[in-house]
Amino acid sequence: QKVEPLKVMISGAPASGKGTQCEFIKNKYGFVHISAGDLLRAEVSSGTENGKRAKEHMEKGMLAPDEIVVLMVKERLLQPDAQQNGWLLDGYPRSASQAKALEDLGIRPDIFILLDVNEETLVERVVGRRLDPVTGKIYHLKYFPPENEEIAARLTLRFDDTEERVKLRLQTHHQNVEAVLSLYKDLVFKVDGNAQKDKVFTEIDNALSALLKRKLETDSAS
Ligand code: AP5
Repeated sequence: QKVEPLKVMISGAPASGKGTQCEFIKNKYGFVHISAGDLLRAEVSSGTENGKRAKEHMEKGMLAPDEIVVLMVKERLLQPDAQQNGWLLDGYPRSASQAKALEDLGIRPDIFILLDVNEETLVERVVGRRLDPVTGKIYHLKYFPPENEEIAARLTLRFDDTEERVKLRLQTHHQNVEAVLSLYKDLVFKVDGNAQKDKVFTEIDNALSALLKRKLETDSAS
């Protein structure tokens, strides 16, 4: 019997480890990873009008306008691969209006993972983060340094990863998080994101396995 694929949302403050955990989850479960931030950065890089507008907001640590983000995420979510393999939505919804746009489409997740991390740790993680443009891998100068000199030489910084900008991003996060949480109250799975990344993943992995098992049981009983 075919079980409906899982629909997972992952949320947390800037640099709480969403991208890092999404890599682990995607590798184990095969869900399609949809990151609102990555979609926006791709638009910024391609230099479109939407990209230019989005960048103005992102540089100030503010949310990009709904007219840009909502359609972008919706289109990606409705692609056949996400429908068939299940999805892992990272950094969306970030406001009540974005959540409502999903509700209007009849889209609700099976679980809402919330990474909980102390504020000083967040700043340290942002400032040390580096990205490999070739593999897309996320590094940290102190916690996960690159494996060799060749990779080290090509690492890049995100344009919004300064201490000053992360403080603005944190403010935006605090202003919006409650509105989103209250909509998914019964689905929230809060994880201590201060721990090492594989420990954090073990907790998430246990929750997802249990959820899949339950789903298999209910789907085959119906
Ligand atoms: P987005 O790209 O979503 O950024 P963010 O929420 O600020 O989160 P980050 O990507 O910075 O961090 P992360 O949680 O993925 O952490 P990571 O795994 O990299 O959004 C960027 C901007 O786009 C927003 O500010 C907004 O303007 C716009 N935007 C996005 N979504 C939007 C929406 N829905 N609507 C409107 N606008 C939107 O980890 C961080 C660092 O820590 C890395 O170096 C990593 O190696 C390290 N690390 C991770 N886990 C651990 C660990 N357990 N221990 C030690 N180090 C760790």
